[in-house]
Amino acid sequence: MTNKQDSNRIVIFDTTLRDGEQSPGASMNLDEKMRIAQVLEAMGVDIIEAGFPIASEGDFEAVNEIAKVVKNSTVCGLARATRGDIERCAEAVKPAVRSRIHTFISTSPLHMEYKLQMAPEAVFEKVIESVTLARNFTDDVEWSAEDGSRTEHDFLCRCVEAAIDAGARTINIPDTVGYALPFEFAALIEMLFNRVPNIDKAIISVHCHNDLGLAVANSLAAVQAGARQIECTINGLGERAGNAAMEEIVMAMKTRQDSMAYVTGIDSSHIIKASKLVSTVTGFTVQPNKAIVGANAFAHESGIHQDGMLKHAGTYEIMTPESVGLSTSKLVLGKHSGSHAFSEKLNDLGYDLGDNAIKDAFKRFKDLADVKKEVFDEDIIALVDDEVVATNDNIKLLSMEIKCGTVHRPPKAEVELEVDGVAKSCARTGDGPVDAAFNCIKELFPHEARLQLYQVHAVTEGTDAQAKVTVRLEEGGKTVNGQSADTDTMVASVKAYINALNKLLVKREKTAPSALSA
Ligand code: KIV
Ligand code: ZN
Repeated sequence: MTNKQDSNRIVIFDTTLRDGEQSPGASMNLDEKMRIAQVLEAMGVDIIEAGFPIASEGDFEAVNEIAKVVKNSTVCGLARATRGDIERCAEAVKPAVRSRIHTFISTSPLHMEYKLQMAPEAVFEKVIESVTLARNFTDDVEWSAEDGSRTEHDFLCRCVEAAIDAGARTINIPDTVGYALPFEFAALIEMLFNRVPNIDKAIISVHCHNDLGLAVANSLAAVQAGARQIECTINGLGERAGNAAMEEIVMAMKTRQDSMAYVTGIDSSHIIKASKLVSTVTGFTVQPNKAIVGANAFAHESGIHQDGMLKHAGTYEIMTPESVGLSTSKLVLGKHSGSHAFSEKLNDLGYDLGDNAIKDAFKRFKDLADVKKEVFDEDIIALVDDEVVATNDNIKLLSMEIKCGTVHRPPKAEVELEVDGVAKSCARTGDGPVDAAFNCIKELFPHEARLQLYQVHAVTEGTDAQAKVTVRLEEGGKTVNGQSADTDTMVASVKAYINALNKLLVKREKTAPSALSA
């Protein structure tokens, strides 16, 4: 084992698919998780926490399938400190070239008393028991002290020492509730280095939540105090206010080598692609002024700034757009472009599609190029993402016609669907054209799902831009996100609703055992 604490290499542990998926509404299906895992692998993530296998059949399957496919990153699953969790996790990660079991238990007085209702000594025993059990399945075991930042120091030191003795190679100190301040969190990590006698036998990791907006600052402060693994997510997705954003951590270290001379294995030029994929799949829009990946992160609007930029980009830009994967010339193809150029473009954008998928996507590209003069990278990404989510559907859109109207002539929609191979149609009015169209869908495919989110974004600029629509539906506690993109906003809306319904149909039972939240 290499102890990386003395080196300047920071291990990037991505938990978008586990902690990220725990954000209410951010649920992802198997296919979406696989696509995200492949993007994470391609960008050089060291460890992918792919899920919480005991949580549901769906979680188990996702971790298991990712473990089969991902070759270059370690695939990790989360487990509480119980035999059932650890064995299920071990089974899920087994196919991986490199697998990790991440087991955790709360160590703070508040969590032990109220959440676990366990005495500290019983928790201490569980630490040893769980790590020892996990080590029977893999050499790579990570142990986390949940609510570590609010844990009494003596007890934390004892638990950390015992976990390392029991065989944990990585010790993770979470700021579970995002309570820590950077100087305090650094002092906590330093305290562990000073007091835990066997600390050099493990890598110290941190997992910071963003409740006070300090997750990235706390993670970087911890690195300066000796931590060498950072747990983070794309776009800062995660429970409540989220986790530390991977793109911010990576770019902070890359940009400020003068004062933080650390390296990660991340190829930062994949950042935008990963951010867009996670945003599309979850329907969690990235705020325009979000660091690194926001639409305005590299925009220079004011005259003074533009003037400065023209004279020297360094006047207002501390990193280049290209370094995070934003291309400057975005015009790609037109209606005369051939299939060869199209598939080269897909390769450039990082897509690895089979022949049939390329053929389908090319046909859709031609249709798009017929109605849209200029086709940009973003259009191709939206088109391919739409293509991937539209396969194997029980419900399909055959045709639709919508009329807008005022109070006296209410909006009306006529929609024809194919439901399990049978064509059906109806006409309905509504409060607006979207409402009328969604009423038709409800009539043709009766369901109890509640609409939680209806969101429209323009993929590019101009009135001929494609509209990217997200529809979030909830039924019996299960949430799904449907997406679609089209130059016609109403068509995209109807397709996104149908996509969400199709996902709801295939969504597996997600039965969460009590107190699963991590
Ligand atoms: O926030 C937290 O404490 C967690 C642990 C399971 C690492 O997510
Ligand atoms: Zn967490």
